[in-house]
Amino acid sequence: SIDVCYSPELLHLYDLKGKAVVAVDILRATSTMVTAFAHGARDIFPVMELEECRAFSGGGCLTAAERNGIKAEGFDLGNSPFSYMNGAVDGRSIAITTTNGTRAIRLSEAAEEVIVGAFLNLKTVARHLSELQLDVVVVCAGWKGQFNLEDTLFAGALVDCLQQDFTSENDATLASLHLYQAAKTDVFNFLRQSSHVRRLENLGIHEDVQFCLQHNLYEVLPVWRQDRLIDLAVV
Ligand code: MLT
Repeated sequence: SIDVCYSPELLHLYDLKGKAVVAVDILRATSTMVTAFAHGARDIFPVMELEECRAFSGGGCLTAAERNGIKAEGFDLGNSPFSYMNGAVDGRSIAITTTNGTRAIRLSEAAEEVIVGAFLNLKTVARHLSELQLDVVVVCAGWKGQFNLEDTLFAGALVDCLQQDFTSENDATLASLHLYQAAKTDVFNFLRQSSHVRRLENLGIHEDVQFCLQHNLYEVLPVWRQDRLIDLAVV
């Protein structure tokens, strides 16, 4: 089966044991992580708090932090996918904390497998899920506990890819699928009025949104192993 959880704050309603979680924060945390792996990052330590992240500095680890869409002061990187390109993270370990995305990942640790998904690696995630044959919960990062449109559209896109292999009795899954089907010819326009797109536009961040909505740009498969994410596609 495939279920959709609209916010990490609703995870107490889901039993993740023995299941695969796909954690998603389209704008921008999981899109950025996928981009980092595509550009050679060795591993990624997603953490919830700024202080935990800071503790990784020194010892060769890059640190990345975002709060409310803005790069937090005193860290090497923010949360724009573009700052993870051009050799900036090649061969490096990265510790990262973001407002919602890293929470969604860390609060899903009880699952059998935690996969980081984005439109950028949609097909690769779908293929892996078909092979795994575990029940799936898509965990949307949302915004501070609330529903958001872009993560829900991703959930719908994944359901769209997996329909033949999976069933669902969950209305959240059906709603995500219907939304994606209504949006898929022009996801960017569909999201124009959404809260985080407007938040990023107000911060002058336009190109990140376009970038993160591209489908299947990378064949990257970030999965949680013990205390970090690694790219299963290169192992
Ligand atoms: C988050 O984790 O809330 C986000 O990725 C925010 C952002 O940097 O756009």
